[in-house]
Amino acid sequence: MSYEILLAPMAGVTDHAFRVLCHRMGCDRTVSEMISAKAIHYKDEKTATLARIRADEGSVVLQIFGAEPEIMAEAADLLTRGAYHGCQSETAPMGIDINMGCPMKKITSNGEGSALMKNPALIEKIVRSVKSATPLPVSVKLRAGWDDTSVNAVECALAAEAGGADLVAVHGRTREQLYRPPVDRSVIAAVKRAVKVPVIANGGIDSATSAAEMLAETGADGVMIGQAAEGNPWLFAELAAARDGKSYTPPTWEERMLLAIEHIHLLVEDKGEFIGIREARRHMGHHCKGMPGATAYRDAVCKAETASEMLRLTEEFMQGL
Ligand SMILES: Cc1cc2nc3c(=O)[nH]c(=O)nc-3n(C[C@H](O)[C@H](O)[C@H](O)COP(=O)(O)O)c2cc1C
Repeated sequence: MSYEILLAPMAGVTDHAFRVLCHRMGCDRTVSEMISAKAIHYKDEKTATLARIRADEGSVVLQIFGAEPEIMAEAADLLTRGAYHGCQSETAPMGIDINMGCPMKKITSNGEGSALMKNPALIEKIVRSVKSATPLPVSVKLRAGWDDTSVNAVECALAAEAGGADLVAVHGRTREQLYRPPVDRSVIAAVKRAVKVPVIANGGIDSATSAAEMLAETGADGVMIGQAAEGNPWLFAELAAARDGKSYTPPTWEERMLLAIEHIHLLVEDKGEFIGIREARRHMGHHCKGMPGATAYRDAVCKAETASEMLRLTEEFMQGL
């Protein structure tokens, strides 16, 4: 069976460096960190970094969040044309995704992210407005609903489709659940039955087996992987091998840490040493998962201030494996 394998958007994680690694491992499409449409409207300079796509990343979808149809449309237009202030993309996005799942209070209190699911009529309006502003495919990323008394992903998906959405991704947890189990696969299956556009299933997939179960139970057209890819971009190789009927050999600890070293270099090249090293700390904590001495390495690497210090600590850690 043919299906798509996507990297989920994750703020603070799915930047250029991480997308490069996942693309190389066989991920079909990656989604950027969420980008504020309002920040684009006000020409925020830092936001340009989030919107930058480099040539070696494969297919990248840019995700925007907001609640005002005109401002969302303006952002979609500027991002599509790579015309956003200082953005310097080397290649165009292959789609625009609209965030309808973020649970953070500072987002939902503005009616943005998962708060949009309380207002399906606004969902339709936003999607229509964004569609009219870009020739690119437009997708939405929903949750199951706000809480277990308001599971309305089907209604929201239909509203998005009515507005012209080309694809719907569903994270099978409510806003109230945040990222805790269980993942409700039946709501994803219900969305798949209700809409004509492709549906991508998301939530709790961490192996080829769980991806196969998700696809079998939902009938979805693809799977989207979030947290399980952190420190393990090989998960995409595992999933692609299972899909394509090929064999898969898990990486050795050494291979995993060599990739971690490359991750450090990519972050520093893209963001400079100061920011790159600070952001690499989180990733190193994931790359060393399950290895002997990981706790001590994690503690040490979290205090590293320079690339050479982080690389030295990583090489020492590898020698002990
Ligand atoms: C650290 C982190 C950041 C996230 N940031 C975003 C985001 O920017 N946009 C979005 O739509 N979802 C975001 N999500 C949700 C993920 O895209 C995904 O839906 C969720 O993690 C469930 O998938 P998983 O169980 O495979 O992790 C984030 C999740 C995490 C853990």
